[in-house]
Amino acid sequence: MADLRAMLRNQRTPHDRTTAPLAGKTVVIAGSTSGVGLAAAREIARFGGRLVLVARNEAKGRAVQTQLEQDFGAEVSLHLADFARLAEVDRVSRELLDAYERIDVLINSAGVYSTRRLHTDDGHELTFCVNHLAPFLLSVRLLPRMRHAGGGRILQVNSQGHRFGGLDLRDLAWRRRVYLGLRAYGASKTAQLLTVWELADRLQGSGVTINAVHPGEVRTGIGLNNGPLYRWYQRRLIDPWLADARVAGESLHTLAAAPELAGVSGRYFNRTHLEKPAPHALDRVVGRALWERTMDLTGLTDDG
Ligand SMILES: NC(=O)c1ccc[n+]([C@@H]2O[C@H](COP(=O)([O-])OP(=O)(O)OC[C@H]3O[C@@H](n4cnc5c(N)ncnc54)[C@H](OP(=O)(O)O)[C@@H]3O)[C@@H](O)[C@H]2O)c1
Repeated sequence: MADLRAMLRNQRTPHDRTTAPLAGKTVVIAGSTSGVGLAAAREIARFGGRLVLVARNEAKGRAVQTQLEQDFGAEVSLHLADFARLAEVDRVSRELLDAYERIDVLINSAGVYSTRRLHTDDGHELTFCVNHLAPFLLSVRLLPRMRHAGGGRILQVNSQGHRFGGLDLRDLAWRRRVYLGLRAYGASKTAQLLTVWELADRLQGSGVTINAVHPGEVRTGIGLNNGPLYRWYQRRLIDPWLADARVAGESLHTLAAAPELAGVSGRYFNRTHLEKPAPHALDRVVGRALWERTMDLTGLTDDG
C-alpha cells in the first residue's frame, strides 16, 4: 500500500529538470523515430549533444535527422537496425563500435506492445525480443565505448507496465500459455528490470551506470501497430488523458545529463523520481536465472 501511495505521489510530482549541457557528448538513441525516443532526441539536441540515431525505418530516421539538424543545428548520424532481428542488433553494434571512439549515453527506447502473439524469425516472442533481448544485446555490445567515456550512462526505457507481471522462465516465447498483450508487455519489462540490476552489479567500479526509467504516461505511437479497434480505443479513450511526450524527453535528458546522478546505478525512476518496482521485478534468484537465459538467447558470452 505504501508503495502504491509512493507511486501515485511520484506520478503527481513534476519531473526534475537540469540545465547541464551535453556539448561534446555522444548520445546513442534507439527508437528515436517516434514518441519517447524522439522527444529525448530533441531535448538532447537542444542541450548540445551529438546524436547517433538507431532506427529500423530509414525514411523516418532521415526525416528525424533532418529535423534535428534544422531545429537545433545538431550533429546527427543515423544507423539502421530492426530490433526484431538480433543479427541486425549485432551488426549495428559493430558499426557503432567502429564509428565512435566514445559513447557517453545510450538510451534504449525502441519498444512495442502487441495484442497478438507474434514471433520473430528467430522464434522469440516479438515484445520480449524488441523490449528486452535487443536493448540488452546493444547495451552489452557497446560497453567498451562507454567504459572509455569513463562515466557512460545506459538508460533502459522501461514501464510501469512491468507491474502486469507475466514472466515465466519456462515459457519466455509464450508458446504454452494463453497470450495476453499486457502480460507479455509486463514480462518483457520485468525481464529488462531484472537484468538492469544484474548488469549494474557487474558494472560496479567500471564508471558505467545503468538505470531503468518509466518515461511517464505520454501520447506516442505505442500500440498503433495493433488492429483498428485497438487504435480507436487508444486514440479516442486513452490519448486524451496522456501528457505530451516532451515530459518523457525532458526526464530522459535529466537522467542523461544531471551531474548529481553521476554514479547512480541499478535504480528504477518514475520519470526522474526514484521508485520501488513491483516485488516480482526485484527477485534476484529469478534475475540470475534470467541473466543466463538472456545471455544464451542473445548469443553473448562472459568474454563478450
Ligand atoms: N508512451 C508511454 O506512455 C509509455 C509509458 C511507459 C513506457 N513506454 C516505453 O517507451 C518506449 C518507447 O515507446 P513510445 O511510447 O515512444 O512508442 P512509439 O511512439 O511507438 O515509439 C516506439 C519506437 O520504437 C521503435 N521500434 C518499434 N519496433 C521496433 C523494431 N522492431 N526495431 C527497431 N525499432 C522499433 C519505433 O520505430 P518506428 O517509428 O519505425 O515504428 C519507434 O521509434 C517503449 O519501450 C515503451 O514501452 C512508453
